[in-house]
Amino acid sequence: MSKKVYIESYGCQMNHSDSEIVASILTKDGYTTAATAEEADLVLLNTCSIREKAEYTVMQRINEMNALKAKKRGMKVGVLGCMAERMREDLLVKKKVVDLVVGPDAYRSLPLLLDEVESGQKAVNVLLSREETYAEIEPVRLDSNGVTAFVTIMRGCDNMCAFCVVPFTRGRERSRDPHSIVEECKQLVAKGYREVTLLGQNVDSYKWTEKELLANGQQPVANDLGSVDFADLLSMVAEVSPALRVRYSTSHPKDMTDRVLVVMARYANICKYVHLPVQSGSSEVLKRMNRGYTREWYLERIASIRKHMPGAAISTDIITGFCGETEEDHQQTLSLMEEVRFDMAFMFKYSERPKTLAARKYPDDVPEEVKSRRLQEVIAKLNSTAGDLRRNAVGEERVVLVEGESKRSAEFMYGRDDQYTTVIVPRGSGATEIKAGDFVRVRILSGTAASLKGEVIAVIPYPAAMEPLSIA
Ligand code: 5AD
Ligand code: SF4
Repeated sequence: MSKKVYIESYGCQMNHSDSEIVASILTKDGYTTAATAEEADLVLLNTCSIREKAEYTVMQRINEMNALKAKKRGMKVGVLGCMAERMREDLLVKKKVVDLVVGPDAYRSLPLLLDEVESGQKAVNVLLSREETYAEIEPVRLDSNGVTAFVTIMRGCDNMCAFCVVPFTRGRERSRDPHSIVEECKQLVAKGYREVTLLGQNVDSYKWTEKELLANGQQPVANDLGSVDFADLLSMVAEVSPALRVRYSTSHPKDMTDRVLVVMARYANICKYVHLPVQSGSSEVLKRMNRGYTREWYLERIASIRKHMPGAAISTDIITGFCGETEEDHQQTLSLMEEVRFDMAFMFKYSERPKTLAARKYPDDVPEEVKSRRLQEVIAKLNSTAGDLRRNAVGEERVVLVEGESKRSAEFMYGRDDQYTTVIVPRGSGATEIKAGDFVRVRILSGTAASLKGEVIAVIPYPAAMEPLSIA
């Protein structure tokens, strides 16, 4: 009987994708995946350190797993991901609660480490790497809808934003071989997937050079310089199939080039959606955050997106109450939001993280209640502008990729349009019934801040060219 592993993922999409790499490595080692912790011989928690709350949630879960372990003889518990390096002492030595701690660059060593665990030892590998990209490992898709998939194109981050723990938990930035990325996308198309999202902490600094190509015995493919940047990669992936939708995340305002925008505008199958984290609308705060751009620079990047793709959707990340943020700084964030009118935003209170530049240099001096009040104001601002945008969509036609059944009712299906907005449509019946993986043309009938409702006008035959997706 093969052993069963249950993997639970916290944090960003990158972490969820890493779990699919872990599942692949363990499947080759003879494991099968379990749907619940109760059924599993090995429970792995793939953890996140981005805010204190994320770590707290994981610690609670580790305690629950230990209660389960006490009842189930032989069950092992491991911690993967971003908390591994920071918490290994605590988890393995002080609290003695977990059997295994493995950092984001050390997943290939899992089979060996599990052997150690089997022989009754505690096992750990939290070494970070300058090269590891798991390029050739074909992920085992977990919780997949069979329609959309995530493809990691680079790992780590070299930016050193003052608030951010990622450079410490995930190490230096490195780009994955473009051939292996294109190959993975082709495989996905062959399996019936209709959309890929290319993932990286800062996709705009994707860079694969000829030196690396030649070292791998390959020829340069994309341009005369013998190097592949993000704009090149994006067009290579868009060329895989006109009926494969392409998205990506995340851009950095200091690095986002017009070339990328030109490529986005050129290909009908690249979604007209940009996630561009601003963090703050105050140039003073941005400077302390070490973001490498000003308010004016950010607004110029937004103008450029709108120039190249007039209907594009733009979303962002915002932090309230960063060290030294004044009421005036906060007002500048609100006014920037008013000016840009984001379609969506992830909004957070600042949470000090160990080792970061901010933790070392600046006092965390905005009181908790002020952080909370500012966060509420930022959320209210987003809801007012995003609500307008959704309401304005009423009467428009959108192309929607159907992802599955609506959680609220089996009579409805949900999917996303080109701008990443969730759209709910009736399932229909008989000859007109729609299914996951269909591209459908939808007339929008109503909208809220979070989603749109519509009626299906037509199913777009697959694999017809994606021409109807073009909104320019
Ligand atoms: N506190 C609050 N939010 C943070 N983020 C990153 N680090 C912190 C922190 N220490 C937010 C940023 C980032 C998103 C992924 O998480 O907005 O873009
Ligand atoms: Fe969390 Fe950041 Fe690690 Fe993603 S990279 S899991 S957001 S700490």
